Amino acid sequence: MKVGIIGSGTMGSGIAQVAATSGCQVILVDNNQEALNKSKSSLERILSRLIEKGRLDNDEKERIQSNITYDNNVAVLKGSDLVIEAIVENLEIKQHLFKTIESHVSEDCIIATNTSSLSIASIASALDKPDRCLGIHFFNPAPLMKLVEIVPALQTSEAVLSKAASIIEDWGKTVAIAKDTPGFIVNRLARPYYGESLRIYEEGIADFEFIDQSLKSIGGFRMGPFELMDFIGNDINYIVTETVFEAFYYDPRYKPSFTQKRLSEAGYLGRKTGKGYYNYDASNKPIYENNAELNDTQLAQDIFERVLVMLINEAADALFLNIASTEDIDNAMTKGVNYPKGLLKWADEMGIEWCVHKMDELYNTYHEDRYRCSVLLRTMNKNKSTFYS
Ligand code: NAI
Repeated sequence: MKVGIIGSGTMGSGIAQVAATSGCQVILVDNNQEALNKSKSSLERILSRLIEKGRLDNDEKERIQSNITYDNNVAVLKGSDLVIEAIVENLEIKQHLFKTIESHVSEDCIIATNTSSLSIASIASALDKPDRCLGIHFFNPAPLMKLVEIVPALQTSEAVLSKAASIIEDWGKTVAIAKDTPGFIVNRLARPYYGESLRIYEEGIADFEFIDQSLKSIGGFRMGPFELMDFIGNDINYIVTETVFEAFYYDPRYKPSFTQKRLSEAGYLGRKTGKGYYNYDASNKPIYENNAELNDTQLAQDIFERVLVMLINEAADALFLNIASTEDIDNAMTKGVNYPKGLLKWADEMGIEWCVHKMDELYNTYHEDRYRCSVLLRTMNKNKSTFYS
């Protein structure tokens, strides 16, 4: 199969590696020659490291490398079965590129976008044949993260959706089908992990370290919310929150935080600048100031439960609004962001009654719309039903 990938930055390079590893003929296109050179040498480094670790042999490395060609002209995509765009996140530039792609490829070539925040419908609308367009959203780093969200636009045909899903599954990925709504599944459902933790901090309930430690040791999350925001970059994480907030017509549930905005403005972006919520040592590890011991176990439990119930509420509402299926919602969080458990499964374990009670408790305390309980949870509680039977 011939696959074109446009944009040889972080995402395009990773997607090219995935497709080439599974045997596709990949053409990686970028309008910046330096980016192409960088992508090629970075793949060389990554594959050599895999050989050192014994996960790859030399023949396999050569096979993967020979499956990728590098070019700076979109015209070489002629004859592609699938093109995935991973260029700069800008609607006008993407629409212009989609028109150009369409002028070179055949009628039945699928044209996909890896966008995180733009609507697929708006990108598809640039095409003469918009039913061939959809979102194929990988996570960073693409070769390591199992999940791919597939997002049909209003215009996408059923045939294109199922063909794209089967290609991505052949590449060894877990597919979750998401509705074309802001943040798709993962970037929407993960908001409370950051937002509620920031709110807890802003209320003076606990410091970054204590909150991180509570979620790691009680919840089993691999990284605490503040460590994770520092890892992603406070500039990027803040913008995603702000974009989702605006896209949802300022629903208070997604309200961004001044704490993070100021960090971003100050240039305290996290790991990449050596300072964020934490300071970082020479080997880029966070320096824990007070080695937060969870001496107040009740407080740690309360913090964990408050963040968890907000995550569950978000997941339940996404199911209620048909954003994705129960299984895809749970897979998205365990395979896209490594959550220890699917959120709906977690809801069953904690008990639907517990979820409703916790949400109502928060609402009664704050009287803010942010804490409204999902109607789905309330109905399920009344009917004594669960997400999984
Ligand atoms: P990046 O900045 O690392 O790479 C973008 C590449 O596109 C650059 O090499 C640039 O030279 C090239 N480019 C820009 N305009 C072009 C054009 N008109 N024609 C050809 N090449 C062009 O960006 P990154 O992070 O790889 O993101 C790419 C896309 O993937 C964006 O839509 C982003 O929202 C999405 N995305 C990013 C994720 C991430 O964690 N970085 C995760 C999932 C999706």
